[in-house]
Amino acid sequence: MPNKITQLFNIKYPIIQAGMIWNSGWRLASAASNSGILGLIGAGSMYPDVLREHIQKCKQATNKPFGVNVPMLYPNIEEIMNIIVEEGVKIVFTSAGNPKTWTKWLQEKGITVVHVVSSVKFALKAQDAGVDAVVAEGFEAGGHNGRDETTTLTLIPMVREQLQTPLIAAGGIATGKAMLACMVLGADGVQVGSRFVASTESSAHQAFKQVVVDAKEGDTQLTLKELAPVRLIKNKFYQQVEDLYKTGPTPEQLKELLGRARAKKGMFEGDLEEGELEIGQIAGLIHDIKPVAEIVKDMVEEFEEAKNGVINL
Ligand SMILES: Cc1cc2nc3c(=O)[nH]c(=O)nc-3n(C[C@H](O)[C@H](O)[C@H](O)COP(=O)(O)O)c2cc1C
Repeated sequence: MPNKITQLFNIKYPIIQAGMIWNSGWRLASAASNSGILGLIGAGSMYPDVLREHIQKCKQATNKPFGVNVPMLYPNIEEIMNIIVEEGVKIVFTSAGNPKTWTKWLQEKGITVVHVVSSVKFALKAQDAGVDAVVAEGFEAGGHNGRDETTTLTLIPMVREQLQTPLIAAGGIATGKAMLACMVLGADGVQVGSRFVASTESSAHQAFKQVVVDAKEGDTQLTLKELAPVRLIKNKFYQQVEDLYKTGPTPEQLKELLGRARAKKGMFEGDLEEGELEIGQIAGLIHDIKPVAEIVKDMVEEFEEAKNGVINL
């Protein structure tokens, strides 16, 4: 399936395993890269020394290209970026921040830079910053997201209309058919998050993986828009947020309820009541926990079948 994205990253299929806090460590990233797609280590939940260890283990587990996702809202960014350079990582996906801050610096060191956005305006800003590709993520995606409720189906063609830079679609893609749809709409590749949470190699707690498998349509909601909008499973913690909203809270009160380490508690430690459980709407279509290699094989086969089937429509 050679195209702009496979060439940019030197991979077999134009699929990216998304960087995801508490889910995408070296095991998931190396399994993804060994399956012919691009694996990403999610640096957002790692202290600098932990990230270094994950990079080193990933290098031992695969000789294929892999990258690191760096959400720029977390502290220690300079230290994180220096480790990435020192360890010879060749691909960085930045998110949650200004793409101008690090793009040139990384590219000068021979690193391919991709930035994640959720609107046309920010896609163009990323292009102006000189990134090598843009990920455009729709409202249905798991994890942190934009404030506007633009879905993948509408965002991708609108970004494509104005963007010259290679475009990767994200949000709601867990099957080969969805991948094909996004590529028909103008994407050059896809970034997949939620589907890989429910993989054997993800570092999510088994109880959280099971929540994803059991989730039905309507079980997630984008919330906490005043702080950093995030799509969550509607569990007890989510209900506490909703109850607080009814009292007209200040951002400080929301911050206090959120507290610290909620995401770790929920996704990594498996506290399904008090923890923050980040997942996308597409969880309703995820029915099993499978090895990454099988997920990729199924997606690619379904993509090819659907592509051939479309001709007969
Ligand atoms: C559990 C979870 C954690 C995430 N953490 C991050 C992150 O650390 N950095 C980031 O840029 N995006 C993060 N995301 C968003 C993903 O990178 C990806 O763009 C998104 O999951 C795609 O939508 P999908 O979940 O519908 O496949 C996260 C998503 C999930 C589900």
